[in-house]
Amino acid sequence: MDDSRAQLTKDGIRLYQQVDFAGMHKAGKLAAEILDRVAPLVYPGQTTAVIDKAVEDMVTEAGAISATIGYKGYRHATCISVNHVVCHGIPSDKKLHDGDILNVDVTVIVDGWFGDTSRMYVAGKMPRKAERLVQVTHDALFKGIEAVKPGNTFGDIGHAIQAYVEGNRMSVVRDFCGHGLGRVFHAPPNVLHYGRPGTGPVLEEGMFFTIEPMVNLGRPETKVLADDWTAVTRDKSLSAQFEHSIGVTADGFEIFTLSPAGKFHPTWG
Ligand code: MF3
Ligand code: CO
Ligand code: CO
Repeated sequence: MDDSRAQLTKDGIRLYQQVDFAGMHKAGKLAAEILDRVAPLVYPGQTTAVIDKAVEDMVTEAGAISATIGYKGYRHATCISVNHVVCHGIPSDKKLHDGDILNVDVTVIVDGWFGDTSRMYVAGKMPRKAERLVQVTHDALFKGIEAVKPGNTFGDIGHAIQAYVEGNRMSVVRDFCGHGLGRVFHAPPNVLHYGRPGTGPVLEEGMFFTIEPMVNLGRPETKVLADDWTAVTRDKSLSAQFEHSIGVTADGFEIFTLSPAGKFHPTWG
C-alpha cells in the first residue's frame, strides 16, 4: 500500500494504512464473538433487556468500550430490533415470543478502533416467511460485499443489494444506511443499500465502512416512534438486517466482523 496517499479523498473518505487493518480486525473480532455468545440467550420468554445486559458485561469483561452507551444520549450496549422494528430497537423488559425474529447490533471500541456488526436471531422456531426474509437479507449483504474492490463505486454496492432484494419481491429501506468507520463510529460516506451502477464515490484501498442492509417483506417506508429511536415499518411488515464492518484491499475486501464460531446466520452453527 502506498502510504503517501492523501489521507482524505475528495469525497471526504479517510484512507487508512496497512497497519490499521490489524486494529479493525481486533475490534471486529470482539464484536462478532459477542454476537456468537448472544445466540444461546435468545429463546421464548427471554427479554431483550437481559440480552443487552449480558452484552454490556461481555464488552466490559473484554476490557473494551461500548460505542453506543452515551452515543447521542443512547443508554444501551445493543440495539435489538424485533419483527417489524427496522433498527435502533431499545432493549426492554418485554418477553420474546416463539417465532419472533430479532436483530442484535453491537459496536465496540478496542484500542480506539470501532467494530460494528449485527445479525438476525430467532426465538424458538423460525416461521416460514421470516426464514425467506432472513435468507434474502443475509444474501443481499454478501451481494453488496462482493461488489467491494478498488475502482468500483458505492453505487455498485447499493445496486447489487437492491437488485437482489427486489428480484425477490422484497424492499430495501432507504431511510438508514451504512457508514464509514475506523477511529470513529460514523464517518463519510453514507453507504446506501440501493443505487445505480457507476454512481457515487469510487472505492479505494484503505477505506473502512459498514454494509448493513435493512430489508422489509412489505413496503420500504419507516417511521420513528415517540422514543426518538425505534424505527418500524410503516406497514408493520417484518424487517431484517445484517451488518459487517469491512475494509477495501488492493484486490477486494476484508471482513473485520466474521463470526469466529461460524454462527453469523441463525440457522448455522
Ligand atoms: N450500530 C448502529 C449502526 O450500525 C448504530 C447504533 S447507534 C445507537 O450504525 F445509538 F442507536 F446505538
Ligand atoms: Co453500523
Ligand atoms: Co451496527
